[in-house]
Amino acid sequence: MTFLTADAMTGGYGAADILHACTLAVDRGEIAVIVGPNGAGKSTAMKAVFGMLPLRAGHVSLDGTNITTLSPQERVRAGMGFVPQVRNVFVSMSVEENLEMGAFIRDDDFHDTMEQVFSLFPILRQKRRQPAGELSGGQRQQVAVGRALMTKPSLLMLDEPTAGVSPIVMDELFDKILEVAATGIAILMVEQNARQALAIADRGYVLVQGRNRFTDTGEALLADPEVRRTFLGG
Ligand SMILES: Nc1ncnc2c1ncn2[C@@H]1O[C@H](COP(=O)(O)OP(=O)(O)OP(=O)(O)O)[C@@H](O)[C@H]1O
Ligand SMILES: [Mg+2]
Repeated sequence: MTFLTADAMTGGYGAADILHACTLAVDRGEIAVIVGPNGAGKSTAMKAVFGMLPLRAGHVSLDGTNITTLSPQERVRAGMGFVPQVRNVFVSMSVEENLEMGAFIRDDDFHDTMEQVFSLFPILRQKRRQPAGELSGGQRQQVAVGRALMTKPSLLMLDEPTAGVSPIVMDELFDKILEVAATGIAILMVEQNARQALAIADRGYVLVQGRNRFTDTGEALLADPEVRRTFLGG
């Protein structure tokens, strides 16, 4: 059994289901990448894994424990860190305050963890007193990822961490995500930059209309002619 298993998740926001038996999995130290067209339900699947979407069917388990009925806050305590696609930093708060907010569930000393975040993202140490809203897009994403790392998650979930950043900043961010995975954290990530993301993915998922369309290693998906033609622009 994989560290995170989201099995046959079915559910939506109201009457109609958005997810239809959507299944995702990732092990410790691995990177799983979800790609697919706009509106495919990628963010919805992330919300479902994090407990923000009521499931009509299916289940989520983490490290062998069924957590399907846990609230998002309980899932954070269970080891999940989530960086949502939008509004993922507190713009009027300083970088340091954002990281402190990330540690909200901890009652121990979190300064070592903050040091780890600063060594992963050195620019954040430099800008620690600056409001997050004054940072560049790429720096803000670093704050968002850093904030999620403050609870020392065993699973880090990232919804489009490279949205709106330049190709160079994207490459840098992917290198950091590889570094985080190498520490043994499981990474579940949604990405628009499908080629580049699948290139670093141990597991790849192509979602279409809330369903698993293709599932394989990142490498195999990149080599699959149909995936290339339909989802990667040839
Ligand atoms: N809060 C919501 N209430 C109702 N419907 C929603 C809500 N959020 C998303 N949806 C709908 O669910 C479907 C899937 O949306 P979702 O945001 O999961 O797609 P996505 O794959 O993340 O797209 P994108 O690539 O644009 O981020 C869409 O039809 C969307 O309109
Ligand atoms: Mg989305």
